Amino acid sequence: MKIIRAKDYKDMSRKAANIVSAQIIMKPNCVLGLATGSTPIGTYAQLVEWYNKGDLDFSEVTTVNLDEYKGLSRDNEQSYYYFMKENLFSKVNINPERTFLPDGMETDSDKACSDYNRLIANLGEVDLQVLGIGHNGHIGFNEPGTSFEAETHCVDLTESTMKANQRFFESIDDVPRQAYTMGIKTIMQAKKILLLASGEDKAQIIKEAFFGPITPQVQASVLQLHNDVTIVADEAALSLI
Ligand code: F6R
Repeated sequence: MKIIRAKDYKDMSRKAANIVSAQIIMKPNCVLGLATGSTPIGTYAQLVEWYNKGDLDFSEVTTVNLDEYKGLSRDNEQSYYYFMKENLFSKVNINPERTFLPDGMETDSDKACSDYNRLIANLGEVDLQVLGIGHNGHIGFNEPGTSFEAETHCVDLTESTMKANQRFFESIDDVPRQAYTMGIKTIMQAKKILLLASGEDKAQIIKEAFFGPITPQVQASVLQLHNDVTIVADEAALSLI
């Protein structure tokens, strides 16, 4: 595991974007696994800036996102599709038909999940998977206790994740209670993993996940078993290690 120390959020975003853009330059038709949340916003903004300068070309890139809320449509401002469109897809020359997220509007969970598993299998390998990390160690929406063998599945979100996400909704009652997420097994199959973390509030979980025991109670700890993980984190997030 490689840990890249960044000064602050901006520096983390720039260093992470460097790794993503190197992937795109080395393999223009790569498959990128993407995450939403606050942490990668600056990385996407940096990629957009380099695209605008003419340094990056997304025309052959395919993306698969980790997760999507069940019950939110693509045009719902809180959906992860909307987030991706706002922060990246609409700002670069990516082919919208090559940007994939689980189908939040599919009410049949088994179908939504098996469709997404099939889609990922058909794409072949994910070359680079970008991840954030939740305060309880979740990656994607894989909450503590989930089997490391899980593929895409439907999850009941924990109270703590709903509370953390509440900031994007008018009230906690508006936060969806379920989501579709890639499982740990799927995430672990990515060739390379890039995990981003910023802020003091992530310091404790970074310590537990990467310097503690590997346990389903801390989902991100499984990444200790992956052979190509890079963590780009700022000093605050690394302050306990
Ligand atoms: C988002 C995702 C989540 C977030 C995590 C951290 O697609 O899969 O696991 O990465 O909740 O969120 P932020 O970055 O908002 O702290």
